Amino acid sequence: MKKFTSVKDVADVNALVTEALVLKRNPLGYKETGRNKTLGLIFLNPSLRTRLSTQKAAVNLGMDVMVMNIDKEGWALETLDGVIMNGTSVEHIREAAGVMGQYFDIMGLRSFPNLKNRDEDYREDILNKFIHYSDLPVISLESGTLHPLQSLADLITIEELKTAKKPKVVLTWAPHVKPLPQAVPNSFAEWMSVADVELVIAHPKGYDLDPAYTSGATITNNQDEALQDADFIYVKNWSSYQPYGQILTQDPGWMLTEERLKNTNSGKVMHCLPVRRDLELGADILDGPNSLVLQQAANRVWAAQVVLKKMLETNFP
Ligand code: CP
Repeated sequence: MKKFTSVKDVADVNALVTEALVLKRNPLGYKETGRNKTLGLIFLNPSLRTRLSTQKAAVNLGMDVMVMNIDKEGWALETLDGVIMNGTSVEHIREAAGVMGQYFDIMGLRSFPNLKNRDEDYREDILNKFIHYSDLPVISLESGTLHPLQSLADLITIEELKTAKKPKVVLTWAPHVKPLPQAVPNSFAEWMSVADVELVIAHPKGYDLDPAYTSGATITNNQDEALQDADFIYVKNWSSYQPYGQILTQDPGWMLTEERLKNTNSGKVMHCLPVRRDLELGADILDGPNSLVLQQAANRVWAAQVVLKKMLETNFP
């Protein structure tokens, strides 16, 4: 595994989930695998879970970890080619990534979309340039379009807790006051499309995701219909894909509460966090027995650890 940016980078998703659960039972069993290897975690945007869980996973494997919030602690980066750097940017991505390639053995990178230019965001220019100029194995810590470590943790959580062979999983849009990226829902839909689940996506009119990620899913604008007999409900806001990056509605009727769960199959509620209480998701659910949000966050460690283990074994045999 040279890169982990999408489910497409995984040869066998079921085997990866099974191995993650083995690591969960024996976190320190591979302490020698990462000895004398350095993981660099580079953040262009804020993080709590991704940063801490990936750091913990690396330490469990015996790796050293360097973390940099490059947006706050580094030189202002120029990411475009052919520009005369006589403005605010101080260092070009070619040199910055090239230098990191000298210090790290594996790199993790978080780079959110700007939500202004869809082509730019969906081309994944920044992630691809870091991969190219660092010449390192790279793990996406959330990119313009996808959040694969989150989705792997989500799939681990569903596999651990499902009671039906093929559970009904509903991804439902939720209200928010800010335009958020489509990376989490794109990624969740992409991973669910290779899992043994029935996926239904519910959102208000105008919030269709990029069809490249939603093949095989049933898509509806009726949340109550979607929730009928649901085993797992994944709650997430996203801004519109077309027109790009817009808030089209803040309808509070789309916020999930305990009352809305009554026709589900004792539906377990998931959210990647951070979550805005009583805006995106009812506090009654978050504080109640149906919430899986902490189990999901805990599983971020095993998702990161299994991916790092694969990368170490592949690139440093
Ligand atoms: N879910 C998630 O990626 O959390 P952070 O943004 O805090 O890393």
